[in-house]
Amino acid sequence: MPETKNDYPVLLVENIGVSFGDFHALAGISLKVMPNTIHSLIGPNGAGKTTLFNAISGIRPPNTGTVIFDGAAITRIPAHRRVKHGMARSFQVTNLYPALSVKENIRLAVQARYLSESWVFWRSHRSRREIHDEVRTIMQDVSLEEKQHVNAADLSHGAQRSLEIGMALAGRPKMVCLDEPLAGMGIDDLRTTKELILNLKRKMAVLLIEHNMSVVLSISDRVTVMVQGKKIAEGEPEMIRRDSAVRTAYLGSQA
Ligand SMILES: Nc1ncnc2c1ncn2[C@@H]1O[C@H](COP(=O)(O)OP(=O)(O)O)[C@@H](O)[C@H]1O
Ligand SMILES: [Mg+2]
Repeated sequence: MPETKNDYPVLLVENIGVSFGDFHALAGISLKVMPNTIHSLIGPNGAGKTTLFNAISGIRPPNTGTVIFDGAAITRIPAHRRVKHGMARSFQVTNLYPALSVKENIRLAVQARYLSESWVFWRSHRSRREIHDEVRTIMQDVSLEEKQHVNAADLSHGAQRSLEIGMALAGRPKMVCLDEPLAGMGIDDLRTTKELILNLKRKMAVLLIEHNMSVVLSISDRVTVMVQGKKIAEGEPEMIRRDSAVRTAYLGSQA
Protein backbone atom coordinates (compact mmCIF):
# COMPACT_ATOMS: atom_id res chain seq x y z
CA MET A 1 0.00 0.00 0.00
CA PRO A 2 1.36 3.44 -0.86
CA GLU A 3 1.99 6.05 1.83
CA THR A 4 -0.64 8.51 0.67
CA LYS A 5 -3.90 6.76 0.07
CA ASN A 6 -5.80 9.85 -0.96
CA ASP A 7 -5.79 8.89 -4.63
CA TYR A 8 -7.53 5.65 -3.73
CA PRO A 9 -11.27 5.49 -3.25
CA VAL A 10 -12.38 4.60 0.24
CA LEU A 11 -15.41 2.94 -1.30
CA LEU A 12 -15.56 1.22 -4.65
CA VAL A 13 -18.92 -0.17 -5.67
CA GLU A 14 -18.99 -2.16 -8.89
CA ASN A 15 -22.01 -3.18 -10.84
CA ILE A 16 -24.30 -3.69 -7.85
CA GLY A 17 -27.61 -5.33 -8.65
CA VAL A 18 -30.44 -5.89 -6.17
CA SER A 19 -33.72 -7.60 -7.06
CA PHE A 20 -36.89 -8.08 -5.09
CA GLY A 21 -38.48 -11.01 -6.89
CA ASP A 22 -38.72 -10.00 -10.55
CA PHE A 23 -38.27 -6.34 -9.74
CA HIS A 24 -34.79 -4.93 -10.29
CA ALA A 25 -34.43 -2.21 -7.67
CA LEU A 26 -30.80 -1.69 -8.67
CA ALA A 27 -29.68 -2.54 -12.18
CA GLY A 28 -25.89 -2.48 -12.05
CA ILE A 29 -24.73 0.60 -10.15
CA SER A 30 -21.06 1.56 -9.89
CA LEU A 31 -19.74 4.23 -7.59
CA LYS A 32 -16.44 5.56 -6.28
CA VAL A 33 -16.16 7.58 -3.07
CA MET A 34 -12.89 9.39 -2.42
CA PRO A 35 -11.49 10.06 1.07
CA ASN A 36 -12.38 13.37 2.71
CA THR A 37 -15.17 14.16 0.30
CA ILE A 38 -18.92 14.50 0.57
CA HIS A 39 -20.50 12.29 -2.07
CA SER A 40 -24.26 12.64 -2.38
CA LEU A 41 -26.84 10.30 -3.84
CA ILE A 42 -29.95 11.97 -5.13
CA GLY A 43 -32.95 10.85 -7.13
CA PRO A 44 -36.73 10.70 -6.93
CA ASN A 45 -38.48 8.42 -4.45
CA GLY A 46 -38.07 4.78 -5.37
CA ALA A 47 -34.82 5.42 -7.27
CA GLY A 48 -33.04 2.81 -5.14
CA LYS A 49 -30.91 5.08 -2.95
CA THR A 50 -31.71 3.35 0.35
CA THR A 51 -31.40 -0.06 -1.31
CA LEU A 52 -27.90 0.93 -2.43
CA PHE A 53 -27.07 2.06 1.12
CA ASN A 54 -28.29 -1.27 2.44
CA ALA A 55 -26.07 -3.12 -0.02
CA ILE A 56 -23.07 -0.97 0.86
CA SER A 57 -23.58 -1.25 4.61
CA GLY A 58 -24.36 -4.98 4.55
CA ILE A 59 -27.98 -4.84 5.65
CA ARG A 60 -29.03 -6.55 2.44
CA PRO A 61 -26.17 -7.98 0.38
CA PRO A 62 -26.55 -7.42 -3.36
CA ASN A 63 -27.53 -10.13 -5.84
CA THR A 64 -24.66 -9.16 -8.12
CA GLY A 65 -21.60 -6.94 -8.01
CA THR A 66 -18.88 -6.13 -5.47
CA VAL A 67 -18.32 -3.69 -2.64
CA ILE A 68 -14.71 -2.84 -1.89
CA PHE A 69 -14.06 -0.75 1.19
CA ASP A 70 -10.63 0.60 2.11
CA GLY A 71 -9.09 -1.98 -0.19
CA ALA A 72 -10.99 -4.98 1.21
CA ALA A 73 -13.75 -6.89 -0.57
CA ILE A 74 -16.64 -6.80 1.89
CA THR A 75 -19.57 -7.62 -0.38
CA ARG A 76 -20.84 -10.49 1.74
CA ILE A 77 -19.69 -9.68 5.24
CA PRO A 78 -22.43 -8.80 7.74
CA ALA A 79 -23.24 -5.20 8.70
CA HIS A 80 -21.88 -5.34 12.25
CA ARG A 81 -18.46 -6.45 11.00
CA ARG A 82 -18.22 -3.52 8.58
CA VAL A 83 -17.89 -1.19 11.54
CA LYS A 84 -14.49 -2.76 12.24
CA HIS A 85 -13.46 -2.00 8.66
CA GLY A 86 -14.24 1.65 9.33
CA MET A 87 -17.72 2.03 7.92
CA ALA A 88 -20.40 3.76 9.96
CA ARG A 89 -24.02 4.41 9.32
CA SER A 90 -25.95 7.01 11.24
CA PHE A 91 -27.96 5.35 13.94
CA GLN A 92 -31.65 5.85 14.42
CA VAL A 93 -32.80 8.08 17.26
CA THR A 94 -34.04 4.94 19.03
CA ASN A 95 -30.44 3.83 19.41
CA LEU A 96 -29.71 6.73 21.70
CA TYR A 97 -30.08 6.21 25.44
CA PRO A 98 -32.83 8.76 26.11
CA ALA A 99 -32.36 8.95 29.88
CA LEU A 100 -28.61 9.50 29.63
CA SER A 101 -26.87 12.78 28.92
CA VAL A 102 -25.15 13.69 25.67
CA LYS A 103 -21.79 13.10 27.29
CA GLU A 104 -22.80 9.71 28.70
CA ASN A 105 -24.16 8.56 25.34
CA ILE A 106 -20.93 9.47 23.59
CA ARG A 107 -18.81 7.97 26.35
CA LEU A 108 -20.61 4.65 25.98
CA ALA A 109 -19.95 4.65 22.24
CA VAL A 110 -16.26 5.45 22.74
CA GLN A 111 -15.92 2.80 25.45
CA ALA A 112 -17.53 0.26 23.14
CA ARG A 113 -14.78 0.81 20.59
CA TYR A 114 -12.02 0.53 23.21
CA LEU A 115 -13.62 -2.63 24.50
CA SER A 116 -13.74 -4.13 21.03
CA GLU A 117 -10.11 -3.18 20.38
CA SER A 118 -8.51 -4.30 23.60
CA TRP A 119 -10.17 -5.29 26.84
CA VAL A 120 -6.91 -4.95 28.76
CA PHE A 121 -6.30 -1.44 27.54
CA TRP A 122 -9.88 -0.44 28.22
CA ARG A 123 -9.35 -1.34 31.86
CA SER A 124 -6.09 0.59 32.12
CA HIS A 125 -5.57 3.93 33.81
CA ARG A 126 -4.32 5.60 30.65
CA SER A 127 -7.45 4.65 28.77
CA ARG A 128 -9.60 6.73 31.12
CA ARG A 129 -7.79 9.93 30.17
CA GLU A 130 -7.92 9.05 26.48
CA ILE A 131 -11.60 8.23 26.58
CA HIS A 132 -12.30 11.49 28.37
CA ASP A 133 -10.36 13.48 25.76
CA GLU A 134 -11.99 11.67 22.89
CA VAL A 135 -15.48 12.22 24.27
CA ARG A 136 -14.74 15.93 24.49
CA THR A 137 -13.36 16.08 20.95
CA ILE A 138 -16.45 14.35 19.58
CA MET A 139 -18.76 16.70 21.46
CA GLN A 140 -16.89 19.59 19.86
CA ASP A 141 -17.04 17.96 16.43
CA VAL A 142 -20.82 17.73 16.60
CA SER A 143 -21.27 21.07 18.39
CA LEU A 144 -22.91 19.55 21.46
CA GLU A 145 -20.42 20.63 24.11
CA GLU A 146 -22.82 23.15 25.60
CA LYS A 147 -25.51 20.49 25.82
CA GLN A 148 -23.29 17.79 27.30
CA HIS A 149 -25.38 17.44 30.46
CA VAL A 150 -28.75 17.45 28.70
CA ASN A 151 -30.49 14.09 28.44
CA ALA A 152 -30.81 12.76 24.90
CA ALA A 153 -34.59 12.71 25.26
CA ASP A 154 -34.66 16.47 25.90
CA LEU A 155 -32.66 17.46 22.81
CA SER A 156 -34.24 18.98 19.72
CA HIS A 157 -34.68 16.69 16.73
CA GLY A 158 -31.62 18.23 15.09
CA ALA A 159 -29.47 17.87 18.18
CA GLN A 160 -30.51 14.22 18.43
CA ARG A 161 -29.31 13.67 14.87
CA SER A 162 -26.04 15.39 15.79
CA LEU A 163 -25.69 13.05 18.75
CA GLU A 164 -26.31 10.02 16.54
CA ILE A 165 -23.56 11.22 14.23
CA GLY A 166 -21.30 11.78 17.25
CA MET A 167 -21.89 8.21 18.33
CA ALA A 168 -21.05 6.99 14.84
CA LEU A 169 -17.81 9.01 14.99
CA ALA A 170 -16.80 7.20 18.17
CA GLY A 171 -16.05 4.16 16.01
CA ARG A 172 -13.41 6.24 14.13
CA PRO A 173 -14.94 5.48 10.74
CA LYS A 174 -13.24 6.11 7.40
CA MET A 175 -16.65 6.72 5.89
CA VAL A 176 -20.05 7.50 7.31
CA CYS A 177 -23.36 6.86 5.50
CA LEU A 178 -26.13 9.34 6.23
CA ASP A 179 -29.63 8.64 4.92
CA GLU A 180 -31.65 11.86 4.81
CA PRO A 181 -30.10 13.45 7.91
CA LEU A 182 -31.99 16.72 7.37
CA ALA A 183 -35.46 15.18 7.09
CA GLY A 184 -38.02 17.00 9.20
CA MET A 185 -35.64 19.65 10.48
CA GLY A 186 -36.44 23.27 11.19
CA ILE A 187 -34.28 26.02 9.78
CA ASP A 188 -31.91 26.33 12.77
CA ASP A 189 -31.25 22.61 13.10
CA LEU A 190 -30.81 22.43 9.36
CA ARG A 191 -28.08 25.03 9.35
CA THR A 192 -26.24 23.38 12.26
CA THR A 193 -26.45 19.90 10.77
CA LYS A 194 -25.26 21.15 7.40
CA GLU A 195 -22.18 22.65 9.09
CA LEU A 196 -21.66 19.43 10.98
CA ILE A 197 -21.67 17.36 7.79
CA LEU A 198 -19.24 19.79 6.16
CA ASN A 199 -16.91 19.42 9.14
CA LEU A 200 -17.01 15.63 8.97
CA LYS A 201 -15.15 15.52 5.70
CA ARG A 202 -11.99 16.81 7.35
CA LYS A 203 -11.82 13.43 9.07
CA MET A 204 -13.61 10.97 6.78
CA ALA A 205 -15.62 10.44 3.63
CA VAL A 206 -19.35 11.11 3.80
CA LEU A 207 -21.86 9.25 1.66
CA LEU A 208 -25.06 11.23 1.84
CA ILE A 209 -28.64 10.65 0.71
CA GLU A 210 -30.52 13.90 0.91
CA HIS A 211 -33.62 15.42 -0.62
CA ASN A 212 -32.79 19.02 0.16
CA MET A 213 -31.33 19.99 -3.23
CA SER A 214 -29.93 23.34 -2.22
CA VAL A 215 -28.02 21.75 0.66
CA VAL A 216 -26.78 18.89 -1.53
CA LEU A 217 -25.56 21.22 -4.24
CA SER A 218 -23.87 23.54 -1.76
CA ILE A 219 -21.96 20.98 0.34
CA SER A 220 -21.19 18.06 -1.99
CA ASP A 221 -17.94 17.43 -3.80
CA ARG A 222 -19.60 14.93 -6.06
CA VAL A 223 -23.20 14.01 -6.79
CA THR A 224 -24.59 10.78 -8.24
CA VAL A 225 -28.11 10.96 -9.64
CA MET A 226 -30.20 7.80 -9.70
CA VAL A 227 -33.51 7.12 -11.37
CA GLN A 228 -35.28 3.74 -11.29
CA GLY A 229 -32.24 1.78 -10.15
CA LYS A 230 -29.86 3.33 -12.66
CA LYS A 231 -27.28 6.07 -12.54
CA ILE A 232 -28.28 8.84 -14.93
CA ALA A 233 -25.66 11.45 -14.09
CA GLU A 234 -22.60 12.01 -11.93
CA GLY A 235 -20.30 14.93 -11.37
CA GLU A 236 -19.62 18.11 -9.47
CA PRO A 237 -22.67 20.04 -8.24
CA GLU A 238 -22.29 22.70 -10.90
CA MET A 239 -22.47 20.08 -13.63
CA ILE A 240 -25.45 18.34 -12.03
CA ARG A 241 -27.29 21.65 -11.78
CA ARG A 242 -27.00 22.12 -15.54
CA ASP A 243 -27.59 18.50 -16.62
CA SER A 244 -30.67 18.22 -18.78
CA ALA A 245 -31.42 14.58 -17.88
CA VAL A 246 -31.37 15.54 -14.21
CA ARG A 247 -33.72 18.45 -14.81
CA THR A 248 -36.11 16.16 -16.65
CA ALA A 249 -35.98 13.56 -13.84
CA TYR A 250 -36.82 16.20 -11.26
CA LEU A 251 -39.45 18.04 -13.24
CA GLY A 252 -42.55 18.21 -11.08
CA SER A 253 -40.93 16.33 -8.20
CA GLN A 254 -40.73 17.83 -4.73
CA ALA A 255 -36.94 17.75 -4.61
N1 LIG B 1 -37.80 -4.98 0.83
C1 LIG B 1 -38.33 -4.63 -0.34
N2 LIG B 1 -39.18 -5.45 -1.01
C2 LIG B 1 -39.70 -5.11 -2.20
N3 LIG B 1 -39.43 -3.95 -2.85
C3 LIG B 1 -38.60 -3.09 -2.23
C4 LIG B 1 -38.01 -3.39 -0.96
N4 LIG B 1 -37.22 -2.34 -0.62
C5 LIG B 1 -37.31 -1.44 -1.61
N5 LIG B 1 -38.14 -1.89 -2.58
C6 LIG B 1 -38.46 -1.19 -3.82
O1 LIG B 1 -37.24 -0.84 -4.46
C7 LIG B 1 -37.33 0.46 -5.04
C8 LIG B 1 -36.26 1.35 -4.47
O2 LIG B 1 -36.56 1.65 -3.13
P1 LIG B 1 -35.60 2.54 -2.22
O3 LIG B 1 -34.22 2.03 -2.30
O4 LIG B 1 -36.22 2.65 -0.88
O5 LIG B 1 -35.69 3.94 -2.98
P2 LIG B 1 -35.26 5.41 -2.48
O6 LIG B 1 -34.50 5.28 -1.21
O7 LIG B 1 -34.45 5.97 -3.61
O8 LIG B 1 -36.54 6.17 -2.33
C9 LIG B 1 -38.74 0.95 -4.76
O9 LIG B 1 -39.53 0.70 -5.89
C10 LIG B 1 -39.17 0.12 -3.58
O10 LIG B 1 -40.56 -0.05 -3.57
MG1 LIG C 1 -34.83 6.11 0.73
